[in-house]
Amino acid sequence: MTAQRIFITGGAGFIGSRLCKALRATGATVVAFDNLHPQVHGDGAAARLQEGLVIGDVRDRAALQTALEQARPDIVVHLAAETGTGQSADEPSRYCDVNVVGAANLIEAMRALETPPRRVVLAATRAVYGEGAYADAAGVLTAPPPRTVEAMDRGVFDLIGEDGRPLTPRPTPETLPPRPGSVYGSSKLMQEYLLQQSPAPWDHVILRLQNVYGPGQSLRNPYTGVLSIFCQQVMAGRTLNIFEDGEIYRDFIFVDDVVSAFVAACATDAAGGQIINIGDGRATSIREAAELILKELKSDRGLTISGDFRAGDVRYAVADTRKAHDLLGWSPQISFEQGVAALVAWARNEAEAL
Ligand SMILES: NC(=O)c1ccc[n+]([C@@H]2O[C@H](COP(=O)([O-])OP(=O)(O)OC[C@H]3O[C@@H](n4cnc5c(N)ncnc54)[C@H](O)[C@@H]3O)[C@@H](O)[C@H]2O)c1
Repeated sequence: MTAQRIFITGGAGFIGSRLCKALRATGATVVAFDNLHPQVHGDGAAARLQEGLVIGDVRDRAALQTALEQARPDIVVHLAAETGTGQSADEPSRYCDVNVVGAANLIEAMRALETPPRRVVLAATRAVYGEGAYADAAGVLTAPPPRTVEAMDRGVFDLIGEDGRPLTPRPTPETLPPRPGSVYGSSKLMQEYLLQQSPAPWDHVILRLQNVYGPGQSLRNPYTGVLSIFCQQVMAGRTLNIFEDGEIYRDFIFVDDVVSAFVAACATDAAGGQIINIGDGRATSIREAAELILKELKSDRGLTISGDFRAGDVRYAVADTRKAHDLLGWSPQISFEQGVAALVAWARNEAEAL
């Protein structure tokens, strides 16, 4: 990639901090804009300030404007967000403020620039699909509604079609109509709509990320990724509580693979105007993931398959990644086993340092 000026909101976060480093390594000048959210960074965040970080909040349009005027970016990557699916049900106004109003502020601030950026890349999410793609008994692809609490109370976790017959999970393509089942998913979908529906001189790329994991994912944040939460619980000597019947599936994608997808999205002209799934494309059950973490941490605390469930959780989430491959020339390089080993090694060090 030729040297550029890049502005990254949420650039101090899990994905953002690694993306800043990777882009700097290409010769780009990178400015991160981040409010060092205490839920993610803890209270001592200011002590770990990185180079090129502007502390500011996307809810503050004037602060965004000033930072953008100073940075004069060619490309803006928007990562700053409230990210907890469960928490979003309890705090919808905060989620809408940061995710929806924050994105609208960013668009208005970019529009007011003398020289606006030429591209905006959005960190979007597979949560916009809700339960995602299923095939019905006739093999037709469908986007079923969220599962009901009443069915899950009866221990019915798999998805059933309107005709009462079981549905079969499929990798979700970008063409599946969105059907978010959480405030988080809806607020992230609104970010996509804002980018698509605001007339602007830039083009945009929307990367819908699956479950990102790896070193650097906050161990403090109880609303963060499931693998970090498992590491933290095992290191605290707890037995892992596996929800439903353990057959919940996720598409886990290592953070450095996600970073390389963002670098490709910045550099690939043909990606302009596109929505692209970023995932590993393979289904791993939460039970298998938990067993691997227990093994890596050499823990004998084991796991319990409890039948507990959370309203709004999805059963099976796997991306159809052919578009990322074809358009960005991107494919993941890190196996799940390698990625979990890296996560566990990092989490051990962090725990010792706390
Ligand atoms: N991690 C995943 O599995 C995943 C999956 C799908 C999509 N995403 C998206 O990727 C993006 C980055 O996620 P992450 O996993 O790195 O999360 P993260 O919480 O580590 O990073 C988000 C960063 O945004 C900052 N931030 C939060 N509110 C802000 C505000 N009001 N103003 C300025 N900065 C603010 C936080 O301080 C943090 O540094 C988010 O948009 C998220 O929705 C992440």
